[in-house]
Amino acid sequence: MRDLRLSHSGAVTGVPTPARDLPISARGLRLQRGGKLLIDVPDLTIETVGPTMILGPNGAGKSVLIRLLHGLVEPDAGQITLAGRDPDRAARARQAMVFQRPVLLRRSVTGNLHYVLRFHGVPRSERRARVRDLLARGDLSGKGRQSARSLSGGEGQRLALIRALAGAPEILFLDEPTSSLDPGATQRIEALIARAARAGTKVIMVTHDLGQARRLGEEILFLNGGRVEEQTPVADFFPRPRSAAARAFVDGHLLV
Ligand SMILES: Nc1ncnc2c1ncn2[C@@H]1O[C@H](COP(=O)(O)OP(=O)(O)OP(=O)(O)O)[C@@H](O)[C@H]1O
Ligand SMILES: [Mg+2]
Repeated sequence: MRDLRLSHSGAVTGVPTPARDLPISARGLRLQRGGKLLIDVPDLTIETVGPTMILGPNGAGKSVLIRLLHGLVEPDAGQITLAGRDPDRAARARQAMVFQRPVLLRRSVTGNLHYVLRFHGVPRSERRARVRDLLARGDLSGKGRQSARSLSGGEGQRLALIRALAGAPEILFLDEPTSSLDPGATQRIEALIARAARAGTKVIMVTHDLGQARRLGEEILFLNGGRVEEQTPVADFFPRPRSAAARAFVDGHLLV
């Protein structure tokens, strides 16, 4: 199932080189649905090693854009390249994504984790210890036997994130991964994301939490009406957003 394809572990592909699939570039990217142009991105290059945070109002096209970048949706026009090459199956398998509404397998919490570890070629003898470690990282140690689909919203998000991290992906796409989490859980998940980023995973993350964007991000992509209005280092974005739309967004104004 494509949505569940995650990166290969070191056991399969060797230790990943940081930023091996960068830059991620999009040229002439357009997606239309129902006569409406949802995405219109003529020229985008993502090359910072640190996390890229995607901001923008509801309906701006953030989720659609990361689905396109991850190869889950075919554009009507345009091209995406990774490190200057067309993404092949191996490059896609080095990516992982956590959806805004996570898709969990109809099995137990540990069953979900065993499944991805097997997929990544982790030997059976190592899987139990790895699952224990992942559960601890996601604060889900007491929940291993519960069916994944009966988890609360926040628990499900945490499981989806540790499952995505299980394969040490080269590029990790995250769509509002902390939207249902309480402040403590948010802090712990941010620490997990920061740790993955430090270990060389390129994080591309949608969030509505400006504080989170500031804490985790190296650069901001601001989307509005399916267009990238600006791409700015975090340190410059918050004090001085360049576009009027981003200024209004940061000031808490509603965009229409
Ligand atoms: N298959 C589709 N058919 C028609 N319209 C679509 C389709 N998929 C997405 N859209 C529309 O495209 C726009 C962008 O959607 P998207 O989910 O990317 O927004 P978003 O920026 O992620 O918003 P949010 O912050 O609410 O998650 C929305 O207006 C949405 O209704
Ligand atoms: Mg969205």
